[in-house]
Amino acid sequence: MWDYTDKVMDLFYNPKNQGVFEDSREPGIKIAVGEVGSIACGDALRLHLKVEETTEKILDARYQTFGCTSAIASSEALVDLIRGSTLDEALKISNKDIANYLGGLPQAKMHCSVMGQEALEAAIYNYRGIAHEVHEDDDEGALVCTCFGISDAKIRRVILENDLTTAEEVTNYIKAGGGCGSCLATIDDIIASVRKESAASVSTLKKNTTSQQAKKLLTPVQKIALIQKVLDEEVRPVLIADGGDVELYDVDGDCVKVVLQGACGSCSASTATLKIAIESRLRDRVSKDLVVEAVEPSLL
Ligand code: FES
Repeated sequence: MWDYTDKVMDLFYNPKNQGVFEDSREPGIKIAVGEVGSIACGDALRLHLKVEETTEKILDARYQTFGCTSAIASSEALVDLIRGSTLDEALKISNKDIANYLGGLPQAKMHCSVMGQEALEAAIYNYRGIAHEVHEDDDEGALVCTCFGISDAKIRRVILENDLTTAEEVTNYIKAGGGCGSCLATIDDIIASVRKESAASVSTLKKNTTSQQAKKLLTPVQKIALIQKVLDEEVRPVLIADGGDVELYDVDGDCVKVVLQGACGSCSASTATLKIAIESRLRDRVSKDLVVEAVEPSLL
């Protein structure tokens, strides 16, 4: 016996949105239809949207669902969620929103929420006359699960959108792997590849955010200390190796005054080059607004 929430049971026993809309004869109203799944595979959902053409608002929706308790409840939830939305707003609804509306679904029944999301997308794409391309795009790539006709692209999408980590979860969400099982190893490989790509992008994002936050939150004292640290650790060792040096003289807002010493201060061309080199390092490490000025030792 599945552990369904009260909301699931209520929507299953008291469905209010089953049915169809015939082609509209009302001016300014169009009916959009989206269909996913197949009766042979155990679940199918046909969704009808009544759309106001000028605003693209979904005035109402109806569905015909072949499936279990959670498939009926997910279809009811979907209609409740999209009624009154524009098509663009409806496209933002995910299978998680459907599951959350129901107070959750058993893991093995999550595919019902995915079916709702897909039927909605199919209806909207049909309405906009781009159904064919979009579905083909979604099913682009290698066919991974021949039992259920599910592609690499679709598996990647469900992993990303739902943060899935096991082949069993993928099966629960879109059925791939739930037949003969011969595609399970490939699904494991796809999960590993998606997680690797996600980890790489999260690490880049974290790095950028930390660096930007550090730059943004510096107090004047911290800013001076960081400038000194960058000069000491990243700039001076290079200059000293070439017979020169640099000393921090003053920081006035975003103006950093330095004194170039030794070989560095001996000619105006090298002074300008060094100023630019030091400035770009400090801009990179401390703040992009910094301007470096070389102070003549004779003027000190
Ligand atoms: S090929 Fe995926 S379950 Fe058979």
